Amino acid sequence: MLAYRHAFHAGNHADVLKHLVLIQLLQHLNQKEKGYRVIDTHAGAGAYRVGGSAQQQEWADGVGRIWGATDAPAGVAAYLESVKAVNGAGKIKLLPGSPLIAQHHLRAQDELHAFELHPTDLRQLEKLLTGLKGIHIHLGDGYQGLLPLLPPPTRRGLILIDPPYELKADYARVLAAVRGVLQKFPDAVLAVWVPQLQRLEAQQLPQRLVNAMKGVAKKGWLDASLTVLPGQDRGFGLLGSHMVVANPPHTLGPMLAAELPWLAERLGQFPGAKGVLRAGA
Ligand SMILES: C[S@@+](CC[C@H](N)C(=O)[O-])C[C@H]1O[C@@H](n2cnc3c(N)ncnc32)[C@H](O)[C@@H]1O
Repeated sequence: MLAYRHAFHAGNHADVLKHLVLIQLLQHLNQKEKGYRVIDTHAGAGAYRVGGSAQQQEWADGVGRIWGATDAPAGVAAYLESVKAVNGAGKIKLLPGSPLIAQHHLRAQDELHAFELHPTDLRQLEKLLTGLKGIHIHLGDGYQGLLPLLPPPTRRGLILIDPPYELKADYARVLAAVRGVLQKFPDAVLAVWVPQLQRLEAQQLPQRLVNAMKGVAKKGWLDASLTVLPGQDRGFGLLGSHMVVANPPHTLGPMLAAELPWLAERLGQFPGAKGVLRAGA
């Protein structure tokens, strides 16, 4: 049984970066009338209640630090809107997860396929989204479920791969999934979340993903990272994260170049906190 529960991490600095990028990708797809398919390979519970145990306070150093900011740049403002959409303007009571954020953006012609392996999270996700038009929730392995859904009939698709990296195998499986997706569907808008950890596999994965995207993804690649904590002697802790994107909209790079320094200043917990953006063809 998997031990990882996203409830402990919801709304942290990594969720802020991940969901900010996800929203930009969804908004970009919504600029054209033709429908698209979103595939969320590691969906989680869809929404997470704030409060309760002390372990569930990571959001305080994530969205909690920027909630109510009056000078948020456009991408951050769009992300904060998605949190407001489930809370109103007052205190944060509920943190939206990726499938709920995606569902908020879908139009009648679009669809979402969400995969989740943990039965408790799956039940919560079903409660939240089952019965809504265009929503398909699957109990199962997202890596296995992904390829048969590609390419979508409209040849417009957004894939989010956001594993817990609880198992070492996740590093190799993510890379294999990216190669498989781009081989079948080189136009896929494909976003992969990668943790910044003091572990070699995590440090190597962003460049490995970029190498898999280079020259294969029709519209290039982008790697945005946000580091908020310094490496520690004991080697534990999530220091920051990356979002590595294949076929990013051309507006995403310039937008993140402006937003990452703002985020690093607000979410950084040491003087070396920084956002880094790389992109290529
Ligand atoms: C980081 S969380 C997902 C968070 C979610 N994407 C969000 O942004 O709100 C990862 C989830 O993947 C689930 N999981 C782990 N391995 C999986 C697999 N092979 N297929 C599908 N889900 C998996 C875990 O139970 C966990 O809920």
